[in-house]
Amino acid sequence: MTAFEQRVFSGVQPTGNLHLGNYLGAITRFVALQESYNCVYCVVDLHAITQDVGVWGGPETLRQSTRDVTAAFIAAGIDPEKHIVFNQSQVSAHAELAWVFNCVARMGWLNRMTQFKEKAGKHRENASVGLFAYPNLMAADILAYRATHVPVGEDQKQHLELTRDIAQKFNNDFAESIERVTGEEMFFPLTEPLIQGPATRVMSLRDGAKKMSKSDPSDASRINLTDDADLIAQKIRKAKTDPEPLPSEEAGLENRPEATNLVGIFAALAERSKGDVLAEFGGAQFSTFKTALAEISVERLAPIAAEMRRLNDDPAYIDSVLKRGADQARAIAGPVYDQVRDIVGLLR
Ligand code: AMP
Ligand code: TRP
Repeated sequence: MTAFEQRVFSGVQPTGNLHLGNYLGAITRFVALQESYNCVYCVVDLHAITQDVGVWGGPETLRQSTRDVTAAFIAAGIDPEKHIVFNQSQVSAHAELAWVFNCVARMGWLNRMTQFKEKAGKHRENASVGLFAYPNLMAADILAYRATHVPVGEDQKQHLELTRDIAQKFNNDFAESIERVTGEEMFFPLTEPLIQGPATRVMSLRDGAKKMSKSDPSDASRINLTDDADLIAQKIRKAKTDPEPLPSEEAGLENRPEATNLVGIFAALAERSKGDVLAEFGGAQFSTFKTALAEISVERLAPIAAEMRRLNDDPAYIDSVLKRGADQARAIAGPVYDQVRDIVGLLR
């Protein structure tokens, strides 16, 4: 078996407001992994433009959102001095490798992607070709660094399975050439998803059956990283619940999606288990629990919002981080793509 150097890669789209789901499902995990891995964190602007321009807002908004996500990464604790932070479009290997993967992945594989079905809605004929091929670009993001571990929220699981399928088909289709060019059996690793913690799928505050999302028309459905303390407390106070008090054990959360969600959010913010949180709040009314939840939310999020505002006052600094990160990223992804060219037979 080929031994791959361990590396973490993940990406966040610069579309709309970052929210508590992005923070707990992804960004806090990115921060934690810095201790044990070399990490590459990417603002995926080429993915953002797969939707209608009205959705991502046009050039000025895209530039601002790209800086906002970068600021959120840094404010949350990602250290761009020790790890690589950059925006995708600055490193051409992503788009180049994605083209090769367009020729590896099968229509049937992409036709099964639930995120495409959700985002394209009823009018599939009107969806961009980019939206359909989105998972191939995501596979290219990851495999251009031959990343072994990818932290994401639960909603990205299917895309990571596809990434493994693409890596495997490439390794098989070009096995002889890979051996000749690299002396190894496999060129791409079969990447492991890291979907961990009590908040891998944070739900809407208005509807426990819907994911918390940037695109929900109701702002009350989500807590944005930039919401102030009053707004956070108000959104939590108004969050949908059921009439029962909280159970004292996790089993009692069954069929109570809103309670499950709020307890999961509390547990993630407090870095405790759900069982531990219920041992404290079991039997309490939601009004009591919500007060404590608002308090810990503000305590955790307010410093991040303040740091994001400070960073946003200095766009030149953000741009310099992205530029340096892109240089470092290119130094890894460029040679990987050059080997892909040799393996496939694209003369250089
Ligand atoms: P996106 O905003 O779609 O680029 O997502 C960025 C990251 O946040 C991905 O790893 C997603 O899986 C994660 N994420 C998005 N929404 C949620 C949610 N409601 N709960 C947990 N993780 C989420
Ligand atoms: N598709 C991811 C999302 O919507 C974003 C993404 C793009 C990504 N490329 C990636 C995540 C590579 C992990 C690894 O959330």
